[in-house]
Amino acid sequence: MTAASEPLLRVEGLQVHFPIKRGVFVDRTVGHVRAVDGVDLAIDRGTTYGLVGESGCGKSTLGRAVLRLVEPTAGRVLFDGTDVASLRGEPLRHMRQRMQMVFQDPLGSLDPRQNVESLLSEPLRAHGLGGGTAGIADKIRGLLDAVGLPSAALRRYPHEFSGGQRQRIGIARAISLEPDLLIADEPVSALDVSVQAQVVSLLEELQERLGLTYLVIAHDLAVVRHISDVVGVMYLGSLVEQAPAEALYDEPLHPYTRALMSAVPVPDPVVEERRERILLAGDLPSPANPPSGCRFHTRCPWRQETRCDDEVPVLRELAGHTAGPHQPRHSADPHPSRHLVGCHWAEEIRDGVLQPKSAEEVAATQGVSVRATGADGGFETDALLQGVDEPIERR
Ligand SMILES: Nc1ncnc2c1ncn2[C@@H]1O[C@H](COP(=O)(O)OP(=O)(O)O)[C@@H](O)[C@H]1O
Ligand code: SF4
Ligand SMILES: [Mg+2]
Repeated sequence: MTAASEPLLRVEGLQVHFPIKRGVFVDRTVGHVRAVDGVDLAIDRGTTYGLVGESGCGKSTLGRAVLRLVEPTAGRVLFDGTDVASLRGEPLRHMRQRMQMVFQDPLGSLDPRQNVESLLSEPLRAHGLGGGTAGIADKIRGLLDAVGLPSAALRRYPHEFSGGQRQRIGIARAISLEPDLLIADEPVSALDVSVQAQVVSLLEELQERLGLTYLVIAHDLAVVRHISDVVGVMYLGSLVEQAPAEALYDEPLHPYTRALMSAVPVPDPVVEERRERILLAGDLPSPANPPSGCRFHTRCPWRQETRCDDEVPVLRELAGHTAGPHQPRHSADPHPSRHLVGCHWAEEIRDGVLQPKSAEEVAATQGVSVRATGADGGFETDALLQGVDEPIERR
């Protein structure tokens, strides 16, 4: 048995590198895509960890490695105190039952030839849950009710539903096996903004009712803001900042987080009018060939002549920031109550001692063009375009 105070999920030094193969007759490995490159995080029971970052920074790969759908190159995933790599056979099957995934595109993850009844009963039968046919029928009605769909939905097929309703079916399927951990990978990115909020509140409601623990992945800081207890910001395979959600939104410390945050519209029109948008130079560099030192140095408005280009910053707590009730054991301890940032100059940036360069100045030193933060969608790029002459490419 593990102590209830132990995080449900602990990820330690996780790396996932994909080989790049070339060759006509014999495949040769010519390099590696460092999709996840050394991530530590912990998620307490019944809480939500929001993982954000631009498209391609490694979020989905991290989620897949937790579920053991891809093999880590290095590091460990501890679920309820057990190293998932050590499991085989029945214990592995049981562990997989306790971790479920909700996908971005429910149409792609739901078999179009099965009606809802069959989609929801399949996992129950496969795991021998729900009792006999009558028990399963009861259970399915309960699931539909839990996700706010009428029982008339049972006889219908995925294409007959709206995007939001389909995501409800995906969620019903994910909770049908009574998991402890739900990994929701961009669960609302494919939905209209008006529907996004409904699905997010359904997730919140289910968490409360069922005591679920969530890892919610999104490329949009606005999406995870209200649902997350802790937010981790990822850039090119690594976390650059992690903090309790309120602390992160009140005082983002990493230049990349600040840039992401500056792209989120504020409801208050007066504050919105004064919102300073931080534009970034260039595209996300390739994870096959990441920049040296601080990986963000090619785009960072605060980059300094010393340290930034050649010294890798570690995630650390800043001087003058309180650690809360948790006493850190070592600098790499990713306990959720700590505000951690991976920037050499975070104190000077926080205190206003260092001033940012404009995106045009950064772009000129790197020989690239300016583009909007997180321009793969989700961020309000139109507002960001104001005052920028260069065309901004959408990835
Ligand atoms: N199976 C794979 N083989 C090779 N490269 C991959 C594979 N899966 C993802 N990648 C690469 O790893 C990087 C991270 O991808 P991903 O985890 O999907 O990012 P995100 O979910 O943040 O958009 C990308 O450069 C992507 O092209
Ligand atoms: S270490 Fe340097 S380049 Fe990296 S985020 Fe901090 S100031 Fe920017
Ligand atoms: Mg993804």
